[in-house]
Amino acid sequence: MQTDLRLAVLGCGAIARYHLDAIKGHVPRVRVTACVDNDADRAGQFATETGGTAFASLDAALDADAFDAIAILLPHDLHEATTLQCLAAGKHVMLEKPMAPTLEGCDRILAAAKASGKVFMLAENAQYWPEVVAALDLVRQGAIGDLVTGRAAFVSEYNPYWFTGQKWRLSRSRTGGGITIDGGSHWVRPMRMWFGDVAKAVGVIGYPMEEMQGDSLMRSLLQFESGLYASYDGLMVATPLGPQESWRITGTDGEIVIGGFPAGGLTLYDRAHRSGRVIDGDWGYAMSFVGENRDFASAILDGTPLAAGPESAVQDLRVALAIYRSAATGNWETI
Ligand SMILES: NC(=O)c1ccc[n+]([C@@H]2O[C@H](COP(=O)([O-])OP(=O)(O)OC[C@H]3O[C@@H](n4cnc5c(N)ncnc54)[C@H](O)[C@@H]3O)[C@@H](O)[C@H]2O)c1
Repeated sequence: MQTDLRLAVLGCGAIARYHLDAIKGHVPRVRVTACVDNDADRAGQFATETGGTAFASLDAALDADAFDAIAILLPHDLHEATTLQCLAAGKHVMLEKPMAPTLEGCDRILAAAKASGKVFMLAENAQYWPEVVAALDLVRQGAIGDLVTGRAAFVSEYNPYWFTGQKWRLSRSRTGGGITIDGGSHWVRPMRMWFGDVAKAVGVIGYPMEEMQGDSLMRSLLQFESGLYASYDGLMVATPLGPQESWRITGTDGEIVIGGFPAGGLTLYDRAHRSGRVIDGDWGYAMSFVGENRDFASAILDGTPLAAGPESAVQDLRVALAIYRSAATGNWETI
């Protein structure tokens, strides 16, 4: 039986740092054996750090048979072709979000994954975000009674790094849109974990950041299949911003508040704690990559089911696409 996993990291950029730190610190069964980036410095740095081999292209890493599983951490327009290539080569694949910018692209990837018999994971780290999971436990325990409504806010001061290292993120044709299809997915998945699937969305988008072709402002309402409503906002501006919570879940007996990105934190408000009870934990966005990489390794090495199958990520994408349609039509749009 295979006891450890030879992993390739394809794309040694910003999010690769989080994956690598999580693996190095917490997932010893994963050995990074291939570091692939067309930027030789980045591939070389990751190779030095991990003891893996640096490759300038996916083709070169495949030719060298240097890995059994791969984390694809590339710009969105490269997701489909690289995933199909890796699945066809018999590799297990973990792919960063969004699966693809279109539903047709997702369908092609899901069909190839099914036919391959390999593990295919869509890496939505919010599924493992410790505060999100703890909030789900509290909701299930009835800590805030019956759910009434929720509020999600993906708000971030613009990172100048996007002007230089990540120019692709400013291009609508490379990302498929703006913040709603990009980082927004991490705010939708938790809402779906707590409230269930989204049935309809209505929203508007705006472009306050001139450098970004896609949306940098989004205001929306989601209606869940249960009939409940939540508000969901996104904003990225080059403006100093005040403190902002990421989520608020309101029930008949209390409220759960998850602090702003990336520090997080969890506070429960109920009749016994009207000023709030701060709940301690190993919190924070960075920790979500630990659970994510553990889940991928276990699915391959132990045959355990993923916390959420890749189809769940298609639902996240459908929410983003419905908001874009609604922004164009002015109507509620079905997911
Ligand atoms: N889970 C999260 O919270 C989160 C956060 C940020 C980004 N992401 C996702 O991660 C993915 C990558 O984003 P990022 O922020 O790391 O981008 P990035 O630009 O920082 O990194 C991408 C890397 O890929 C390399 N690259 C580009 N084309 C290549 C090619 N053809 N062959 C080899 N290497 C190539 C680049 O040189 C770069 O090092 C995207 O899907 C993004 O949406 C997820």
